[in-house]
Amino acid sequence: MSVHADIKRITIPQLLAMKGQQKIVSLTAHNVAMARLLDPYVDFLLMGDSTAMVAYGLPNTLSFTLEQVAAHTAAVVRGSQRACVIADMPFASYHESPQQAFKNAAYLIAQGGADAVKLEGGEVMAPTIEFLVKRGIPVLGHVGLMPQSVNVMGGYKAQGMNEESARQVEQDAYAVQEAGAFGIVLEGVAEAVAAKITHDLTVVTIGIGASVVCDGQVLVTEDMLGINGDKVPKFVKLFAHLNTEIENAVQEYAKEVRAATFPELKHCFGVKK
Ligand code: KIV
Repeated sequence: MSVHADIKRITIPQLLAMKGQQKIVSLTAHNVAMARLLDPYVDFLLMGDSTAMVAYGLPNTLSFTLEQVAAHTAAVVRGSQRACVIADMPFASYHESPQQAFKNAAYLIAQGGADAVKLEGGEVMAPTIEFLVKRGIPVLGHVGLMPQSVNVMGGYKAQGMNEESARQVEQDAYAVQEAGAFGIVLEGVAEAVAAKITHDLTVVTIGIGASVVCDGQVLVTEDMLGINGDKVPKFVKLFAHLNTEIENAVQEYAKEVRAATFPELKHCFGVKK
C-alpha cells in the first residue's frame, strides 16, 4: 500500500467552498513528472488543450483529439494524488449536441480519470452544460477569450474591452452559472468585467489574464516556468527561467560526453572500485 494512501483528492464542492475564503490555485499539466511536482501546491490540475501547442508544437488547439486528451489526463491522474484533475474537452468533441458532449465527457472521466471537464462557450453552450451536470458530470465553463474560436475571433484578443463585448462576456458567464457549472475560467477578460462577474456570481471564477479579482488563477505551467519559447503573453509572469537552467545542464552533459568524463565509474555496472 502507498504511504500516501490516506491523501484525498480535493473535491468539486471543496473548490466551490473556497469562494470568498481563499484563492484557488491551478496550473496545467500533461505528464506524470509535472503532475507530481505541482500536485502538493495546487488545488486543481488542468489537462488543458493548450498541450496541443506546448507539447506538440501545433499552431493552435483545434486538431487535438479526445483520445490525446484522455491519455494525457490519465498520466496527470497517475502523477497526482491531492489535486482535483480537470480535463479540457477538445474542439468539436461537444459542439454537435448535448448527447455527443455527454458521450465524450464520460470518456474523459471513465478512461482519463478526470474529476470534471472544462468546455469553452457561454450562452450557446448552456444547454450542453446543463445536460452534462444533470447527468453527473461536473463542468468548468470557459468564457471571454476562447482559443477554440480563434478563427472566428481572428486571433487571440482580450474580451470585454468595450460595452458590447463586456455585456456578452457577462451574459455568457451568467448563462454558464445558470446551467449548473461549478466554476468559470475567465480568459483575457478586462478587469472591471472580471470583477463584476466574480462579485455577482456564486460559482468560482478562475482567471487567466483576467486580473487578481478572480476567485483563483490558472496559468500554462510551461509559460510561467519560462520553457515555452520567447513570446511571453502579457498576462504571464515568469516565476522561473528554466530555459536557461535546462540549456546549461544540456551543454554540460554534451561537454562531458564529448570529453568522455561522463559516465564515471560510479555510474557503471560490474566495475570494481
Ligand atoms: O488549455 C488550457 O491550458 C486552458 C487554459 C485556461 C490555461 O484552457
